[in-house]
This record gives sequence, C-alpha cells and structure tokens, in this order.
Amino acid sequence: MEKKQLKRAGKERKRIKLPKTTHKMEKKHLKLLENNKAWVTIQNYNNPDFFKGLAASQHPEYLWIGCSDSRVPANQITGTKPGEMFVHRNIANMVVHSDMNLLSVLSYAVDILKIKDVMVCGHYGCGGVLAAMGNKQYGLIDNWLRHIKDVYRLHSSELDAIADENQRARRFVELNVIEQVHDLGKTSIVQNAWEKGQELNIHGWVYDVADGLIKDLDVTATCTKELHSVYHLEKEYNITP
Ligand code: CO
Repeated sequence: MEKKQLKRAGKERKRIKLPKTTHKMEKKHLKLLENNKAWVTIQNYNNPDFFKGLAASQHPEYLWIGCSDSRVPANQITGTKPGEMFVHRNIANMVVHSDMNLLSVLSYAVDILKIKDVMVCGHYGCGGVLAAMGNKQYGLIDNWLRHIKDVYRLHSSELDAIADENQRARRFVELNVIEQVHDLGKTSIVQNAWEKGQELNIHGWVYDVADGLIKDLDVTATCTKELHSVYHLEKEYNITP
C-alpha cells in the first residue's frame, strides 16, 4: 500500500465520528468499523468506480470451499479482490451431501454464475481434522466431525500405517480434501453440468498455515468417468406420474 494512501486513510480515521448507539461497544469492535472506513477511502482513491462496479453485479471466476479457520481467509491468501471469488466455508471444508447451505452455494455457482473452477482448500493443522482423528467428545460438533471420521475409515489402512502422528494428520488433511473433491462430483449439480458439456474443474488444494503456501494436490476432477460407477447418474431424471 502506498504511503500516501495510508496517510490519507489515517486522516479519514481521525475524522470518523462514532454514533452514540455504539458507546457500549468495546473499543476493539469499533476498530473494525474504523478499519472499514479507511479501507473504503483507499478503494475509492485507487478506483473511484470500484463500488459502482461491484454494486451492479458479480462475475466471480472461482468457487472456494474452505475451512472456517480464521487463519485461512480465501481472498487474502489468493490475492483476489471482492467480486472475484464466491466463497463457502465450514469446519474442515466439508462437502456433506445433505448440507443445504453447501448445495445452494454450489448450485448458484455452477448453474447461475457458470463458474468454471472450484477449489476445495483444506489446511494442515486443521482443528476439525485433528479432532476427528481422536475419540474425545466435543458436543454437537461431534455429529459434523463424524463425516471426517468416515474419510479416516475409508483410508484407514494407509493412515494407520503412518507411525508419526503429525505426518498422519497431514496426510489425513490431504485425503479429506481429495474425498471432498469426489463428493462434489457425486452431486447431481456437478454431474448435470458435466453432462451438458459445461466446463467445470474441481481442484483439491491444501494451505499450510506454517508458511502460507498453497499446495495443489493434482487431483482435479473434470468429468463423471473419474467417479466409481455406482455414483454415475443418468442424463435426466424421470418422474412418472
Ligand atoms: Co480447519
């Protein structure tokens, strides 16, 4: 960021008068609002039409399915701006076939926005994946973690053979991402798009919170053929009255 811009943003911050209704809010919360106004100032300074363009419509190129973990902010780590990435996040970047939230995001991204690239991005050190490796009870979340445990069971022979717990956890993170890539391909949303000849690439990535780098697991799915035949859906559904 330019020094000049920061100076300008700083001046703007000083000018902000906080509404009376916010007097009970803690100072750290108010800082977020101050930061927001400074950010707006910088965006307008760089491009006076920035918000005008975004208000008109969105044409994101990517759908990001990532973990809710605060250390993995999708836009920041990929250098993308508002409007460039459609985002869905949940604990351990899961694709659960009965999750209406995920399915709705996926449907909108594929059918309406016609996004061509979906990134499932896991991360090493994922608390959800680590918890799923153990047997402790955490409450309601155990029902979500169970989906991750299913991935462990699918790959238990490979994972159990890794003696080092840290290495086993890292591999589990990777295998979990790979399974979520497959789980996206199993949805009728993705299969219908592929069947229509729509370009749709599903990538599997892992982010390393220790060095900030993203690794491509090189498992990109591009068509139904890559799935086990039991998951293949016929071209059209038939409803016989
Ligand atoms: Co995580």
